[in-house]
Amino acid sequence: MAKLSKLSELEQSPIRRMFDMSKGMDNLVSFVIGEPDFVTPKNIIEAAKKSLDEGKTHYTDNSGILELREAIAGKLKEYDKVEYDPKTEILVTCGGMQALYLTMATLLDPGDEVILADPSYVNYTGQVKMCYGVPVYVPVYEKDGFNFTGANLRKAITGKTKAILLNSPANPTGGVATRDVMEEIARVAVENDLFVIYDEVYKYLLYDNLEFCNIAALEGMRERTIVIDSFSKSYAMTGWRVGYLAGPKEVVEKMPKLHENICSCVTDPSQYGAVEALLGNQDSVAYMNQQYLERRNLLVDGINAIDGLSCNRPKGAFYAFINITKTGMTSEEFAVRLLKQEKVVVAPGSGFGKSGEGFIRISYATSTEKIREGLKRIRHFVESLNK
Ligand SMILES: Cc1ncc(COP(=O)(O)O)c(C=O)c1O
Repeated sequence: MAKLSKLSELEQSPIRRMFDMSKGMDNLVSFVIGEPDFVTPKNIIEAAKKSLDEGKTHYTDNSGILELREAIAGKLKEYDKVEYDPKTEILVTCGGMQALYLTMATLLDPGDEVILADPSYVNYTGQVKMCYGVPVYVPVYEKDGFNFTGANLRKAITGKTKAILLNSPANPTGGVATRDVMEEIARVAVENDLFVIYDEVYKYLLYDNLEFCNIAALEGMRERTIVIDSFSKSYAMTGWRVGYLAGPKEVVEKMPKLHENICSCVTDPSQYGAVEALLGNQDSVAYMNQQYLERRNLLVDGINAIDGLSCNRPKGAFYAFINITKTGMTSEEFAVRLLKQEKVVVAPGSGFGKSGEGFIRISYATSTEKIREGLKRIRHFVESLNK
């Protein structure tokens, strides 16, 4: 066979690896996949069904149906305090994932560098590499709430740096960049004429009355920020594959033709469901967010009561990044042994970057019963290490 491309050698994510390892085992407690356990709210499902009954089964505009882009612009103005023209500055994509890919494809020439937090969402690395860019990892530490600092960012900048990727609330750490942190990142971006790719897919999952801030709303940032968002997490719509990006016209107007070459458009009924998600009744969203808050507290209190483990209370998203250094194991060893001994699936922190070593990630987007059972098994596992 003729040789396959270099891209075909992209590494599998550690989450998938753990997921595959656990396949076929029964009586599992899985904390590994980052997706809501809720079914999409009924009003959204009904809106999509209605659109199908009305014959909305066609290709749509490459940028997405205007009705949805207008609803997105309205929400960005209201919640994010940034204004975008729905006709030229918003593009509906197949999940946040494709919004990220289109952004990289539009911004990067081969060899351009993108600054990523270490640890961060594993697919960022793949996305940068698929566009022939170079990921440059900047460690973020537990003591800083897993946030970038200006000093760390400045050290990583070279003549080839094109963009900083900021994710807040963050996967895998649950860290949130407050306005102060965003202002510092913005200063570095403006000083060095960089783009900021701001992934805000967990933006409604903020706890403890924290103020939300979109970096694009800060001075000098709208023209250099591409906002990435998705319906997957906020509205329990992972399977619908709807997300979007918003940014300055000069950047976003280049994208519909790239989008056309990949998938033309997002499925027609999914877009009508997304309109209802934004404009319809928000009670289900409030209910889900309250559930995540209760689950966070249950999980974090349970973990901190286990001798040898510790966890800062995450400020956002639905992930807890748990410090396991006192056990003396690597995160991979911990995750594999926990799976084999107790049938609990977690993601090893090292899979999210070198600085994730010493941590495991638990997704608490699962029922309180499972969290209680998982905690019991994790306690049993950690206690067995000292025997
Ligand atoms: C930080 C982050 N960004 C983007 C995504 C992409 O999600 P989707 O493509 O389902 O919108 C995810 C999914 O886990 C994520 O955690």
